[in-house]
Amino acid sequence: MKAIQTMEVIHSIADLRSRIREYRRKNDGSVGFVPTMGYLHEGHASLLRKARSQSGLVVLSIFVNPLQFGPGEDFERYPRNTERDLEVAEAAGADLVFMPSVSEMYPTPTRTTVAVSGLTSRLCGASRPGHFDGVATVVSKLFHIVQPDQAFFGLKDAQQVAVIQQMVQDLNLPVEIVPCPTLREQDGLAMSSRNVYLSDEERKQALVLSQALDKAKEFVLSRPNFNTAELESLVRKHIATAPLAVIDYAEVLAFPTLEPFENSTHTHSIILALAVKFGKTRLIDNVIIQLRK
Ligand code: PAJ
Repeated sequence: MKAIQTMEVIHSIADLRSRIREYRRKNDGSVGFVPTMGYLHEGHASLLRKARSQSGLVVLSIFVNPLQFGPGEDFERYPRNTERDLEVAEAAGADLVFMPSVSEMYPTPTRTTVAVSGLTSRLCGASRPGHFDGVATVVSKLFHIVQPDQAFFGLKDAQQVAVIQQMVQDLNLPVEIVPCPTLREQDGLAMSSRNVYLSDEERKQALVLSQALDKAKEFVLSRPNFNTAELESLVRKHIATAPLAVIDYAEVLAFPTLEPFENSTHTHSIILALAVKFGKTRLIDNVIIQLRK
């Protein structure tokens, strides 16, 4: 049963807080939260549906957060389509859509930031300095605004999930983080708002990412004593079959610690994480593999 018959779009923090307070006063259901930057696709919709199945009130936020974009990144041209976003949100069961302006979220220059150390030094943290401080800061602000019982995040951004889980643990935030699987197009490409940037040729060649991950998984599962360097080299070679692909990173790490992994490392799961550029577009994808140790 939906908590609210018609989905409501809210722009101010004060209105959102009072709407959630009213819900809590009248109901004992939980509040589920899905933070996004909009340009919603099926991946986002799957998080909303999961929230719908677990929470009484489903809150979606759409906010392109300037703090997590570096100089020269795509903040200005990040794709936006509010009308379509609201249709997707409604169909997937959102009750409240929070769409603040930049000045609502950052009325004065931010002097307080949340930085999660260690986990953010590798992968996207290394190639996008300051990115995860921007993510942790905005997610922590959104958690304080919404005060959700559960928050739903996609494993497409597995490092983001690890960072948020660490932040929640370190700061004793009373929210349960629910990691959700990556949704893919029929041919295997991980869904992403940034896929619209790809030309037809880049879109075709971008398939090497999911293919490389499939090959890697097969390799690991068929060789219990596999060699990490050999695995990384197999993945790099496959990606190199796409002439337009420029590898930013292709790394195997222990998961969720994101510590370096050697086969002697005691861990139950590893992540193979990729970031590959096609022209100006940087795509990420990963697979998490449970080791049979
Ligand atoms: P955004 O890229 O819009 O993603 C919002 C949520 O959707 C994230 O949890 C992301 O992991 C999830 N998601 C994206 N593609 C997915 C896919 N193919 N399958 C499953 N889930 C997918 O991530 C952000 O925004 C921002 O960093 C944010 C957390 C909102 C902070 O600004």
